[in-house]
Amino acid sequence: MIVPSLFTVAALLAAKAAAHGAVTSYVIDGVAYPGYEGFSPASGPETIERQWSDYNPVLSVSDPKMRCNGGTSAPLSAPVKAGGKVRALWSQWTHAQGPVMVWLFKCAGDFASCDGSGAGWFKIDEMGMTAPPLTGTSWGTAVVMDQLYWESTIPAAIADGNYLIRHELLALHQANTPQFYPECAQIVISGGGGQSPDASFLTAIPSYASASDPGVNVRTPI
Ligand code: CU
Repeated sequence: MIVPSLFTVAALLAAKAAAHGAVTSYVIDGVAYPGYEGFSPASGPETIERQWSDYNPVLSVSDPKMRCNGGTSAPLSAPVKAGGKVRALWSQWTHAQGPVMVWLFKCAGDFASCDGSGAGWFKIDEMGMTAPPLTGTSWGTAVVMDQLYWESTIPAAIADGNYLIRHELLALHQANTPQFYPECAQIVISGGGGQSPDASFLTAIPSYASASDPGVNVRTPI
């Protein structure tokens, strides 16, 4: 029987912490915006991204960190045209099983008073299992792992205003242990069509899905 030494355990934990990921920058309508780089945000530039604490996943669907990985404010925001492109970039990402989702939340006023609470979130983009062919890498997060970005189009019909945009990776490589990786940024949409999603498309985060949801509690072969 092999008993790992304390050093080995510490090394494994350090490797684990470094092996997950988070959104670390954006390109919005062709303009590059820095994000948090992890572990030393105080020394970085001001960003449009709501500050997250580390690369580790959220492991409970009811954790408040499900909303924006703990981030509650950011000093800057980015303009984007309705119909324009938002690209989120991950400096590292290591899991190829699970969906990518992109959500918006319309703030009632300024960003400082916009905490993303209440049933105001709606999904604008997603990629789940891309099979056929059915393989352990036929998933949206495999695309992120390959290209280290995900680009979405802001709906052309949407109402103008201040929005939170939330990128969520759900990693399903570990059976019975779904891992959520959500980060948020602040964007100001203009030139839109004044429309809002029907209430049936709106949800609160956390709690948009239950832990027993078949899309969350899924086991995939690697
Ligand atoms: Cu990980």
